[in-house]
Amino acid sequence: MTYRFKTSLKWSSLTPRMDYMNRRQVLAGVGAMALTAMVSPSVAKIAAKASAFSTDEKPNTLEEITNHNNFYEFGTSKSDPAQHAHQLTTDPWSVKIGGLVDKPGNYDLADVVKGVDMEERIYRFRCVEGWSMVVPWIGFELATLLNRVGVQSGAKYVAFETLHRPEEMPFQNSPQFPWPYVEGLRLDEAMNPLSILATGLYGEEMPKQNGAPLRLVVPWKYGFKSIKSIVGITLLSEMPPTTWNNIGPNEYGFYSNVNPDVSHPRWSQASERRLGGGIFAKRQPTLMFNGYGDEVASLYDGMDLRVNY
Ligand code: MTE
Repeated sequence: MTYRFKTSLKWSSLTPRMDYMNRRQVLAGVGAMALTAMVSPSVAKIAAKASAFSTDEKPNTLEEITNHNNFYEFGTSKSDPAQHAHQLTTDPWSVKIGGLVDKPGNYDLADVVKGVDMEERIYRFRCVEGWSMVVPWIGFELATLLNRVGVQSGAKYVAFETLHRPEEMPFQNSPQFPWPYVEGLRLDEAMNPLSILATGLYGEEMPKQNGAPLRLVVPWKYGFKSIKSIVGITLLSEMPPTTWNNIGPNEYGFYSNVNPDVSHPRWSQASERRLGGGIFAKRQPTLMFNGYGDEVASLYDGMDLRVNY
């Protein structure tokens, strides 16, 4: 991305969330059974099942996940979203689903999530800038929603759009960016069970800086594919435009699969810095498809991933 990485946070001063491991043990214990929602006075807890797709790697702390964000609608520095995203109204919220679907409509968020199986998906998350985290998302498979609205046979791609509301998202007043933020997936990528629409993390509603109330998470792709605060989903026969590809077509491709062998034109993608390790922590090797090759490599059989970066 075309800005310089800023390290204004002192990771050493952040403390892990101690109650989390207890909750994880409870989740593991109940296996596939849903937990009953526990309602705290401030933040709604979300009942979710454990998932076989979750990694055993140690999740980053809530403090790390919510204070080091990319959400350009609120500014370009990593601390801007935590500072400004509280301005965003997320209720009411609706998602316009259209294009090549049987049941187009402007769906209230409550309808979008009605009857879905909420799962906790602990995923590695690799940003194209070279940092990574492990995030315990709560969400459901994107395929569930697409199947519910009925994908028509001509559909080959899914386009996503973020809310455009400059009065609440101050950086949308900047003409530097082609707002609204848009992203896209090929239909088979969208239907892969790893692709989720997330409504929360750490068992609670999605913090606004992480893309409340509904965001995409595609763990084998660079983080910018995981579009936040979605208000539009459109099924298309043609590949849709995407924000970072519009901004820098030779730096950010449509596919943007995590790939240690294909460097960004201005830096290597061979290794990454896991947030929370402290400033002296060694970088770790980046894995092909961010370590999700067993689940997704076959989607790209026969494709040259240097050309289709
Ligand atoms: N979605 C919107 N609408 N606006 C953004 O600026 N940034 C992307 C992605 N989704 C972005 C977005 C980038 S570059 C990354 S790395 C991830 O969100 C960051 O997600 P996180 O802040 O939850 O870690």
